[in-house]
Amino acid sequence: MADGTISTGQADTTATPALEFRPIHISGYDRQVHDFYPTPDWVTEALLKHVTLRNPVWEPCCGDGAMARVLERAGHKVVATDLVDRGFGRGGVDFFACTAFPAGCRAMVTNPPYGDGGEMVRANNASLNFQRFVRHALDLTERANGQLALLVRFQWMAGKRASTLISAAPLSRVVVLTKRIQWFDLGENTNAGQHHHAWLFWDCSHGGLLPPSLVFSD
Ligand SMILES: C[S@@+](CC[C@H](N)C(=O)[O-])C[C@H]1O[C@@H](n2cnc3c(N)ncnc32)[C@H](O)[C@@H]1O
Repeated sequence: MADGTISTGQADTTATPALEFRPIHISGYDRQVHDFYPTPDWVTEALLKHVTLRNPVWEPCCGDGAMARVLERAGHKVVATDLVDRGFGRGGVDFFACTAFPAGCRAMVTNPPYGDGGEMVRANNASLNFQRFVRHALDLTERANGQLALLVRFQWMAGKRASTLISAAPLSRVVVLTKRIQWFDLGENTNAGQHHHAWLFWDCSHGGLLPPSLVFSD
């Protein structure tokens, strides 16, 4: 950002990349470069029903603004950035190069790249990339004494490494989505969503030893 808290030190990522088409099993959706999957509005609305976010909110992987717009409609002030310029917020900002929340931000909300598409899957380190993302997000959140809401696959939470990572910070609430997310509307060819998802919400003002609460939402 202009105050220098976000370093953009990346090669030219501002151009919209061509879509890369490679088949994935079961869902039939083609993977998108940089894992670009706009989140349907109801998913962000479900989060907002169950948590109170402090302002301003940072959306560090904003894509075309699908999630940020819902936050703004709910009255939040949003700072939106992404590695790629998709016509919303500020492009060319690599989350991994950021060393702090943008000035003044108190909460981070995003649907992060899962890292199992494009270059990352070729490198065969999807799960490690995702964990790296979560670890960095938690580091920045703790440094800002802030809040973090991440949309994750429900199944991911149960992994040993994930559970250690999740428990290392003040997890305050888990919002389990009882409806599966359909990432694209392909008309009559739309497939049922493949995964269940949940919002993980950490809040540094949540008492250290208090257990998180679990709620279900659709
Ligand atoms: C799953 S999409 C989610 C988009 C948006 N958050 C939403 O929910 O609609 C993931 C986004 O992460 C962005 N992204 C991938 N790697 C990134 C990085 N290292 N830093 C910032 N954004 C990144 C992609 O460009 C893509 O827009």
